[in-house]
Amino acid sequence: MKIIEVLSYEEMSTKAANFIIQQINQDPSSVLGLATGETTLGLYKKLVQDHYLNNTSYQNIRTLNLDEYVGLAENDPQSYRTYMNNQLFNHVDLPIQQTHLPDGMAKNLVEECLRYDELIYNIGGADIQLLGIGQNGHIGFNEPGTSFQSNTHVVELMDSTRKANARYFSSINDVPTHAITMGIQSIFNSKKILLLASGHKKANAIERLLNGKVNEDLPVSILKNHEDITLIADREALSLTKKNDGIYSTY
Ligand code: F6R
Repeated sequence: MKIIEVLSYEEMSTKAANFIIQQINQDPSSVLGLATGETTLGLYKKLVQDHYLNNTSYQNIRTLNLDEYVGLAENDPQSYRTYMNNQLFNHVDLPIQQTHLPDGMAKNLVEECLRYDELIYNIGGADIQLLGIGQNGHIGFNEPGTSFQSNTHVVELMDSTRKANARYFSSINDVPTHAITMGIQSIFNSKKILLLASGHKKANAIERLLNGKVNEDLPVSILKNHEDITLIADREALSLTKKNDGIYSTY
């Protein structure tokens, strides 16, 4: 695992944006695996700025998002589709039909999970998968205990995850109880992984990732077995991880 320590959220976002832009420049028809949440907001802003300043083109890019809430319509202000449209898709030259998220309003959720897996398979998986990390070590909405072999599935969100996400809703009761998430197996199959972490709230999960064992109790830990993973983390997120001469204790 390559670990890049940065000073701030701002620097993390700049470095992550450069990483994605480099991927697009190398292969303008890349498949980008995308995430939502607070961690990726700064990065998307920088991608939009870069699109205006440098004309980086998304014409041939295809995207696969990690997850979507169950029961929120596409145009619901809190849906991940709305987040992606507002933060990135509406501001770059990416044809909307080349963007993909699970459909949280599907009548048959089991069929929707199969459809999404088939889509991932047909597209050939992500060339680069962008990930945030939950305070409990989740990736996508794969909560602790999820099988490393999992495909797209419906999850019941843990109370801690619903609480962490309640800031976007008027009350915790409005936070959906379920979501559809890409499985850990599909995330792991991505050619490259870019994992981002910022702030003290992520320090415990990052410490467990870097110093602990690969274990289904910490979904993100499987990524230690991935051959092309970069973690960009700020000092606060790395604050519980011991460092020796610039090399993190187990790396
Ligand atoms: C979002 C996602 C989640 C978030 C994680 C961190 O699509 O899959 O795993 O990346 O919950 O969320 P933030 O960035 O809000 O701290």
